[in-house]
Amino acid sequence: MTDLIDLRSDTVTRPTDAMRTAMATAEVGDDWYGDDPTVNALQDRAAEITGRKAALYLPTGTMCTQIALHVLVRSGHFVVCESSAHVCGMELHSSAALSGVAFLPVSGARGLLSAEQVAGALRPDPADVRVIDLVAIENSHQVGGGTPQPVDDVRAIAKACESAGVPLYLDGARIFNACAATGATIADYAAEVSAMMFCLSKGLGAPIGSMLVGDSDFIREARRVKILFGAAWRQAGVLAAAGLVALEEGPKRLHEDHAKARVLAEGIADLLPGSVDPDAVPTNIVFVDVSGTGRSAPEWAERLEAAGVRVTMGAGRVRMLTHRDVSMADIRAALAAWRRAAAR
Ligand SMILES: Cc1ncc(COP(=O)(O)O)c(C=O)c1O
Repeated sequence: MTDLIDLRSDTVTRPTDAMRTAMATAEVGDDWYGDDPTVNALQDRAAEITGRKAALYLPTGTMCTQIALHVLVRSGHFVVCESSAHVCGMELHSSAALSGVAFLPVSGARGLLSAEQVAGALRPDPADVRVIDLVAIENSHQVGGGTPQPVDDVRAIAKACESAGVPLYLDGARIFNACAATGATIADYAAEVSAMMFCLSKGLGAPIGSMLVGDSDFIREARRVKILFGAAWRQAGVLAAAGLVALEEGPKRLHEDHAKARVLAEGIADLLPGSVDPDAVPTNIVFVDVSGTGRSAPEWAERLEAAGVRVTMGAGRVRMLTHRDVSMADIRAALAAWRRAAAR
């Protein structure tokens, strides 16, 4: 298993030596009481870099979003989102079970909603039955192919939300990838939304953790819901210590992951023409449309694993993500594995 090149996700990275040292020496306390100094330092740092008042350290991105929905959406009310967004796909059942949330999905080009689409979705229901409490966007958009949304477009969406009096939430699981691609800062994006989350455990390379960010009242209420959901995780400072390293070091190298994804896409486009457009790989996610190859995505996944590369599947396509623990040499080896898998 160990010599397989693992491209299933950017969540598969192992902690670096610097993270392990920080974890071993972290000062800790009981986070239920709010007195874990390392958790508090991470939360303060997240608030500082986003330019927002407060932040909450949580185990997963899903928990961040589920807590945000619980705070911002009344049971039986709707959330407008893009139809292939994580929140209404992987989190559909969580949103229903934990908060009684319904979704109003709108299809966007490569996962991105436009301000016009949002304004259209927010038009009041004349029967006053369908009440929308929140608009949720995702940046970069995973199923859309890691597509980053420029700040100006997010600002236009925020204006549409403001005119309708509806808050805007950002699933920024990979917001730093979007920043690396667009040149914007996380604060540029955070300034446009009511609340957002970002993951430390994806491209930034921390073993665990995500940050929920917003104004003080929102985070106070989110902290109450965190405890309600059973996530008062005591001496979480041992994990937050790795999160602090990830937050400082991670964003600096994401352009390398994007370059690796591009090389991967170019190699596969040469091997299987028409299966992937390298120009449509702006960040670290590569989807390969194998429908024209005479083999299904699960068949490709099986053959690739036998050839030394682990991938996942999504919407009938093969999905690969680049990350810190794969080098450019690994990408070239992965392309050789694709060639072997194609020849078998
Ligand atoms: C866009 C997006 N949002 C949210 C999540 C959820 O993050 P987590 O796995 O930390 O719950 C993911 C996970 O892959 C994701 O890709």
